[in-house]
Parts: sequence; C-alpha cells; structure tokens
Amino acid sequence: LGRSGILRVLPYERLLELASHMRPVDLESEAYLFLQEEPGDSLYLVERGRLRVFRTTPDGREVSLAHLSAGDIIGEMALLDGLERSASVQALEPSRLWRLDRQAFTRVLQEDPRLAVELLELLARRLREADRRLEEAAGGPVVVRLARLLQRMSGGSPASAAVVSLRVTQQELANLAGTTRESVNRGLQRLQRQGIVVRRGRGRLWVDRGRLAAALPADPW
Ligand code: CMP
Repeated sequence: LGRSGILRVLPYERLLELASHMRPVDLESEAYLFLQEEPGDSLYLVERGRLRVFRTTPDGREVSLAHLSAGDIIGEMALLDGLERSASVQALEPSRLWRLDRQAFTRVLQEDPRLAVELLELLARRLREADRRLEEAAGGPVVVRLARLLQRMSGGSPASAAVVSLRVTQQELANLAGTTRESVNRGLQRLQRQGIVVRRGRGRLWVDRGRLAAALPADPW
C-alpha cells in the first residue's frame, strides 16, 4: 500500500489505519468497475492489472480517456465533487483493486495535508494529459496521432528495450485516438512500411522505439 501512488506520502501508522478500511475488489478481464453517471461513494486503488477509462457518446461511440494500472487511483472525482461518475471504467485484464469509502478517505485527507497536496498534483497531471490529448484529437493526420499514442503507450517499458510489445486492439487505439478502426488499420500499415511497427499480431503490436522517436517532432514537455 505504501508504495502505491498518492498514498506513499502517508506515515506507516496512517497507512495501517487506512488499510483496515479497505476491501479487495477483483475484476475479470472486460468486467466493469462502474459506469458513467452512476452515483459514486468510493475510491479505488489499483494493486495489479490494467483498466481503461472511457465515455460513451450519445450516438453510442466509446471514447477512451486513459489507461490506468498498478499504483493509480480511480474514482476520486465523484468523491471530491459529490457528482456522479465522470466516466466508465472497465478492466482490460484481470485486475485487483482496493476500495475505500468516502468517510475513511475524507478523514485521512483532513488529517494529512500531504495527501491533499499529492491529490492536487495527481489532478494537475491528469488535466495536463487531457489537454495534450485534446490538442492531439483536434487535428493532424491520423498516422501522426497514432504514432504519438504508441510513443506514450510504450513509455512504461524499460528504457533499454529497443522493441516493445504493446497489448492493445485496433478498436481501442481508435477509441484513444478519436478515429475509426479502419483509419487505425491504414495508419498501422503505413507505420509498418516505415519499420516503426515491426510486427502485428492478435491484439498485440511490436514497436521499434528508436524509429518511432526519430519520426516524431520533439515533444514540448
Ligand atoms: P470518477 O469521476 O469518480 O469516476 C471515473 C473515474 O475515471 C474518475 O473519477 C477518475 O478517477 C478517472 N478519470 C476520469 N477522467 C480521467 C482522465 N482524463 N484521466 C485519468 N483518469 C480519469
């Protein structure tokens, strides 16, 4: 618990107290944690697995907002503003989370200002990321948006790996890039011709990081 995300600032005794209020939640791959617009009175900490955060448009399309994994927290927004869940959350692989209810969370938040500061930092990071995604979605050729997306998705792998394998479907890439599966398919074919995508398999992609970085203009951050 102490190693995970925003809770790492808490002293041991506080962590122990918090742990006594937490309950495990196990999700199978593709199971939903909750849906957009449900009322929300708890927060979740991801111990292992991978989940996607998405919104469904009025015409039924899914727009993916983020992928979350070990150490991330989920559900802080509805707890903080008291409104409904801002998005749906679905497991992309078997996942183990820990659930904390509003009361326990607000208590530690009030007792420990460091946790509040960490939380603000987390929200700033997510807003920054959302701003960047908004800019990307606003324009530019699909192939460039796709390349940027692959670059961010391979960020979590060890820096030494020249070729990284990403587990993601074409439909999910389309949801993340704000485009269609067909456009993603065409974009991937182009990236493959350039040697940036080395190989494609069922729900998997192998990406040459060096070639990817060389093909993209420098990132302002
Ligand atoms: P909440 O609104 O309670 O439920 C949906 C959750 O998804 C939200 O809290 C956040 O934890 C998470 N979430 C929503 N939007 C984003 C985003 N853009 N980036 C990362 N996480 C998000």
